Amino acid sequence: MTAAQISGALILQPDPALAIEKYRLHAAGYDASARRTMALRRRVLALLRLTPGDTVLDVACGTGLSLPLLREAVGPSGRVIGIEVSPEMIALARERAAAAGWDNVSLVQAPMEQADPGAPLDAILFNYTHDVLQSPPALERIFARARPRARVAVAGIKHPSRWLFPLRLYRVLKARPYVTTLAGLDAPWRLLQAYVPDLRVEPVLFGTNYLARGTVHPAAGPG
Ligand SMILES: C[S@@+](CC[C@H](N)C(=O)[O-])C[C@H]1O[C@@H](n2cnc3c(N)ncnc32)[C@H](O)[C@@H]1O
Repeated sequence: MTAAQISGALILQPDPALAIEKYRLHAAGYDASARRTMALRRRVLALLRLTPGDTVLDVACGTGLSLPLLREAVGPSGRVIGIEVSPEMIALARERAAAAGWDNVSLVQAPMEQADPGAPLDAILFNYTHDVLQSPPALERIFARARPRARVAVAGIKHPSRWLFPLRLYRVLKARPYVTTLAGLDAPWRLLQAYVPDLRVEPVLFGTNYLARGTVHPAAGPG
């Protein structure tokens, strides 16, 4: 992998191997850079309406910044599963879990395209996981384990409307270091709608980001 590939060209399909290279550079500074997004993180987590005993999947859990909030919501009788492709990112999530002493938080290092959450899911969190949302095989893996009417909540990046051209440029430049594909930015939730037909999307931050929520349809998905 050349430096030009890491920082430069973006492919049309998500590339988990390239994500590993990119997040090797981001892991150490990730929590500090994500601090200003904590308010939005709390908002998206609230959309999951978690209750004690739930099993929740934190898709592409990164350094585990959502884990304390998820663990608090599901309690000791629930379960939190985090799946993450980057060894450096998940190492930090593991440190967080070990320091807290949770015994019901499972962390798996794997590309979502090849992972199995391993338990029926009551709720699924996608917090800034653009690459995974553009990956049909990753979504297939996730929703194969979703209970009917499981709750889904998403926060992520998107393009603002076309007449806000400078903001679209800003969106691309800001996103580029953190994603492997810019495909789908006009409606990043489009593939998700096959599984979550009642998905409701709310633009935030001048349309450069969005929140979405819905429930897994019992007969949803490509079948
Ligand atoms: C912007 S970070 C968000 C991390 C975390 N969800 C959070 O809320 O802080 C995107 C994460 O997606 C991970 N990722 C990208 N592609 C992936 C894939 N195919 N499978 C699993 N994780 C992936 C990256 O390694 C990175 O940790």
